[in-house]
Amino acid sequence: MNSILTSRWTKAALFLICLVPLGLLIWEAFTGGLGANPTQFMEHATGDWTLRFVAITLCVTPLRKLVKLPQLIRFRRMLGLFAFFYGCCHFAIYLTFDQVFDLHGILADIAKRRYITVGFTGFVLMIPLAITSTAGWIRRMGGKRWALLHRAIYLTAVAGVIHFLWLVKSDIHVPLEYAAVMAILLGWRVYDHYSKPRRPLRAAIPARKEQAAVPD
Ligand code: HEM
Repeated sequence: MNSILTSRWTKAALFLICLVPLGLLIWEAFTGGLGANPTQFMEHATGDWTLRFVAITLCVTPLRKLVKLPQLIRFRRMLGLFAFFYGCCHFAIYLTFDQVFDLHGILADIAKRRYITVGFTGFVLMIPLAITSTAGWIRRMGGKRWALLHRAIYLTAVAGVIHFLWLVKSDIHVPLEYAAVMAILLGWRVYDHYSKPRRPLRAAIPARKEQAAVPD
């Protein structure tokens, strides 16, 4: 298990797996599988995957601690960056196909429709996290400030769920499932924080290249 988790091939394989949702969407686009409202289909698919990757990224720390596989940290940065990547696709589809680059329309949408406001906030919060996800930025910022900034991923998770809850018109079943998953993942962190003896934050930052795009 250890050799699988530390192999660069595993990382390369995971990278390719993370591209599958995009590949499927492109396949659907070329084979006429986007249905009667292609823009909405693509917005939904990319929105779903943004939220899923945020949740998957937040799963890494609990999983590595619970199953005692510290090597899992190697994948966290990549997963976090894929959340941002799908968020960029989501926003790009909204910008191009939905709003057709109508910047006034977009600003009005952000100001008027509360689910757009909260989604936009969640997306904007991911930008500094993606930029500062490298080892160089951890050194430049210092572990404590870096970890504090990267807690913004929790706000993105909450914003993503609220965005979903507010945009659905009737059946809130699926957004509630996401809400439950995020509540467990964030609740676990609160529990973990208060149930262990305090240690300096710097010690919690992984060394060199294998650092993470998000904090614990
Ligand atoms: C730039 C900011 C964002 C904009 C402009 C935006 C816009 C949209 C729009 C227009 C829809 C489709 C609404 C409809 O069909 O009625 C949508 C759906 C969705 N968005 Fe966003 N969004 C943004 C950010 C985010 C972020 C950051 C997340 C997740 C963390 C997210 C997750 C979702 C989800 C889960 C859906 C619904 C998918 C489904 O119905 O299956 N969005 N978004």
